[in-house]
Amino acid sequence: MKIKVWDGGTRLFHWVLVLLFALSSYSAFQDKFGIYADIHVYSGVAILALVIWRVLWGLIGSETSRFSHFLRGPKATLDYAKGAMREAPYARVGHNPLGGLSVLLMLLLLAAQTVLGLYSTDAMLFSGPLADSIDSGFAEDLTEVHEIIGFTLMGLVGVHILAIIAYGVRRKANLVGPMITGTREVNEGVSAPKIANPLLALVLFAAVAAAVWYGIF
Ligand code: HEM
Ligand code: HEM
Repeated sequence: MKIKVWDGGTRLFHWVLVLLFALSSYSAFQDKFGIYADIHVYSGVAILALVIWRVLWGLIGSETSRFSHFLRGPKATLDYAKGAMREAPYARVGHNPLGGLSVLLMLLLLAAQTVLGLYSTDAMLFSGPLADSIDSGFAEDLTEVHEIIGFTLMGLVGVHILAIIAYGVRRKANLVGPMITGTREVNEGVSAPKIANPLLALVLFAAVAAAVWYGIF
């Protein structure tokens, strides 16, 4: 039977994030004036709004999107990594303990990266919108950290994509399909997770986006 595992908000969050992350990363390596500077700043600030929304959705959203659903203690995560706790395929929906940990890590680094970007500067023409509010030497130090986390995130995204390919090849599980359609085939008896009201997701995002925009610009 088919059940809904990812709500529309979480799926939209993911694919818009993929697009914006590609724009942020590409523009980071262009001459940052004019259009590329704008793309770098606005795609990054939009990622900040997405991540804040996702963290709140992790507290009040659909069951599979909640941190309480996919973050397990160190023992369960280690057991999973060692293969001792491999559930039968499709026995439980949502992120597995290792996947859940990488979701948390990506969200934390994306938040740090976009906040640091606000204070970053190339010490010439291109600065984040809040860089003028701090000492210029400190802003340059923060820019170094922004650069390091930027490369770390690019590596982590590479691992994320490889892990999903490996999962598909070794365990014959298609994880990408459900992240697009929201549904997946499960064994009889697996209960469908509770899906939150999409209107709540929309209102929450509108509030977060407005707060981020007026807080920064
Ligand atoms: C996830 C989002 C982001 C990623 C992946 C990212 C990545 C990077 C990377 C890799 C660099 C160093 C580029 C180089 O070596 O020349 C950089 C520089 C910079 N970024 Fe970001 N960034 C992001 C978000 C932001 C945001 C939100 C802002 C500002 C609002 C921002 C402002 C800057 C500034 C001012 C620099 C310094 C320019 C330079 O030294 O050339 N970034 N970013
Ligand atoms: C084409 C590239 C990508 C593909 C095919 C992909 C695929 C997926 C899939 C299938 C999942 C669900 C995993 C599961 O079932 O547990 C997922 C989750 C996730 N991915 Fe990606 N991903 C891509 C790029 C990215 C990028 C660039 C980022 C971040 C910058 C990212 C961040 C995330 C996050 C945060 C989640 C957790 C979703 C949530 O619960 O909100 N992904 N991805």
